[in-house]
Amino acid sequence: MRIASTLNELTQILSKHANTSLGFVPTMGALHKGHLELVKKSIEQNDVSICSIFVNPTQFNNPADLDKYPNPLEKDLEALESVGCDYVFTPSKELVYPPDFIPKDFSFGSLDKEMEGTNRPGHFKGVAMVISRFFQLIKPQKAYFGEKDFQQLAIIQSMVKQAGFPVEVVPCSTVRESSGLAMSSRNMRLNKVQLVAASRIFERLRAISEMKSSHSIVAVKKWLNFAFLTDEDLQLEYFEIANPNTLIASDKWNDCDVHIACIAVFVGEVRLIDNILLKIN
Ligand code: PAF
Repeated sequence: MRIASTLNELTQILSKHANTSLGFVPTMGALHKGHLELVKKSIEQNDVSICSIFVNPTQFNNPADLDKYPNPLEKDLEALESVGCDYVFTPSKELVYPPDFIPKDFSFGSLDKEMEGTNRPGHFKGVAMVISRFFQLIKPQKAYFGEKDFQQLAIIQSMVKQAGFPVEVVPCSTVRESSGLAMSSRNMRLNKVQLVAASRIFERLRAISEMKSSHSIVAVKKWLNFAFLTDEDLQLEYFEIANPNTLIASDKWNDCDVHIACIAVFVGEVRLIDNILLKIN
C-alpha cells in the first residue's frame, strides 16, 4: 500500500493507472468495519482502490466537534493495509483548499431542507465542496458511501448529477454491531453504559418498522418521542419519516411505497445518526 500526501505523489499514481478502473473511498479516518467494507467493495469492483483520509473542516458546523474528532492515523493505515487497499491519500488542508479554490455552487432543493440540513447548517455545503474537489483531483470511476448517512448519500448523488461528474456513486449497507448499533467513528467516544444505551436507537427504529402496519405516522412519531423523553441516557434531536427520493416528510404511509425513517440522538455529548427503510406491504 502506498501513501500519497502531495499533489505530485497523487499525480504519479493516477498516471500509472490511467487506463485502469479506479475506485475511491473518501473517509475522515477513525476507520471502523463499516469503512473497511466500503474499501473491500471497491477492491472487488475495481482494478485499483484509493482511500482518502481527510478530516474536512468545512463540514463541521460545531468547532468542538471538529476538535474532538478522533485521528488515529497509524491504526487506520494498518487497517487499510490489512484489507488490501492499494493507495491512501492523506492531503493537507492547503492541498484540498488552495487559496485560488472556488467552490462550485450546488442547489439541493428539498434534499438539504430537513434533518441534518437544518440541524447542522452548512454541513452539506462542506461535504459537497470536499467530495467535488476529490472527484476533480482523483477522477474515480466509482465512489463508495455508507447508507448510514442517507441524506449525505442523496446530496452526493445530486451533486454528481449537477456537476456532471462521470462517477458512479455506490451506496453500501450500514454495518452494525451485534447490538444493532450502527458503526460510527463517534462510537469510540462512548463509555460502556453509553454503548448499551446507544443500541436502543436502532431497537426503536426496528420497533417502528413493526408498528407501521398498525399505527399511523403520527402515532409512531408520538410513541418514539415518548420513548426518548423517558430515556435518561439518550436525547432525541430529530426523528423524521420521509420520502427516500425527495426527503420530504411523509404524512401518510400510502404517500409512497418506501419511506426512510431518520434519527439523530445525543448520547451525552456524542451525536449519532441512523435510519431504517420502511417498506409498505
Ligand atoms: O461521511 C464522511 O465520513 C464524510 O462526510 C465524507 C463523505 C468522507 C466527506 O468528508
